[in-house]
Amino acid sequence: MGKIQSVKGMRDLLPPQSEHFASLEEEAARFFQRYGYSEIRTPILEETALFARGVGEETDMVSKEMFSFPDGKDQKMLALRPEGTASVVRAYLENRVGERLSLVKWYYLGPMFRRERPAAGRYRQFFQIGAECIGVATPEADAEMLEMLWGFFQRVGAPGLSLKLNSIGDAVCRPAYREALVRFLSGVAEKLCEDCKRRSQTNPLRVLDCKREECQAATREAPVPIEHLCEPCRAHHNRLLEILNLYQIPYLIAPRLVRGLDYYNRTAFEITASQGLGAQDAVCGGGRYDGLIRLLGGPDTPAIGFAIGLDRLVLVLEAAQKLSSLPPPPLFLGFFDKNGQERALLLGRDLRREGIRCQVDLRGGKLKGQLDRANKLGARFVLLLGGDELSRGVAVLRDMAASTQEEIALDGVIAQLRERLVRT
Ligand code: HAM
Repeated sequence: MGKIQSVKGMRDLLPPQSEHFASLEEEAARFFQRYGYSEIRTPILEETALFARGVGEETDMVSKEMFSFPDGKDQKMLALRPEGTASVVRAYLENRVGERLSLVKWYYLGPMFRRERPAAGRYRQFFQIGAECIGVATPEADAEMLEMLWGFFQRVGAPGLSLKLNSIGDAVCRPAYREALVRFLSGVAEKLCEDCKRRSQTNPLRVLDCKREECQAATREAPVPIEHLCEPCRAHHNRLLEILNLYQIPYLIAPRLVRGLDYYNRTAFEITASQGLGAQDAVCGGGRYDGLIRLLGGPDTPAIGFAIGLDRLVLVLEAAQKLSSLPPPPLFLGFFDKNGQERALLLGRDLRREGIRCQVDLRGGKLKGQLDRANKLGARFVLLLGGDELSRGVAVLRDMAASTQEEIALDGVIAQLRERLVRT
């Protein structure tokens, strides 16, 4: 029988990397809570139709990249979620949250699944930290969200980031713009890649951000959405820029940024990293999606959100050496005999209850073996319990770095150990 291995594009996260993921998730949760966000957890499996309708049938994510399969007697199509926004909106509607609250701020953490070609920074299971702000249409809501994001990235020390911003119009100005774009694309059709030839009909905006050189060259002169905004969209965009300036958040206007999901209108943005990522340089993407709640069967409700790619953020911070992992346990408890072992087990419990990290030797045997194990773990101190010392009410404390040892009284031992651990 062949060896069973992890599925292509899916990986195990081992310490210390798993700790990096966890600490960034905690940091984000704490930070976002200050802005009034609370956590929502939605299922990983959803009906495929949610994403087909919400994200768009013609998007790569839905047409090519979903893990989708028939389930149960009625063979209903289910999918591993490729993103979080459609699920959050489904949950918002299903739980009738909008009837109680006129403003909802939710964040979420967890794995997403896309059957993409695996590459550095691109996986088939990856983790997002996302947030959605539902109920407010103002540019101030966009600005607050971008300020929160920028603040979070600053806080975790991510270097070399750029905020790329665009406005892609709305249901009022998009149709005329789309027409102009389709007209332009039909004039250069023979120069486009096969995908873009098809997209010119089905999803013409996507042609603008095709990465292929021939398409970029052919569409250099193409009309861009930001030059075809209606008055309200333009005013929204200008006010957003005004507030970003007020916050002194640097941004670049990216007229060809259109995003890969269909639900966006007006504000669309990405945050890219100049270090640590290579080709997959987006650590975050998001935008306004004022039409999605209606599209999924709810009332007209404006919303905006983003998702950070946690795997990529970890890569950026690792490259910049901004992530530290848990230091080795400062204290190792060894023993000479059964009495000493039992004392070590109890003392270990009590130290941990007091918030002191330690490892109790679980194997016993020769002292040398125990000290070797303590050394391998990187423990600074070893406390040895048992023998004649135990009957005298003391234990041997070995300073592994200094290679010295002394006796310490077992009465009040926790306080003494704490004091030594603080000093070193
Ligand atoms: P997205 O741009 O598709 O947006 O994904 C957001 C981020 O997830 C990307 O910027 C990237 O960092 C990360 N990401 C995407 N695909 C992969 C992958 N295959 N491997 C590793 N990381 C990846 C969304 O998902 C929207 N739901 C964001 C949003 C929320 N818009 C409004 N609300």
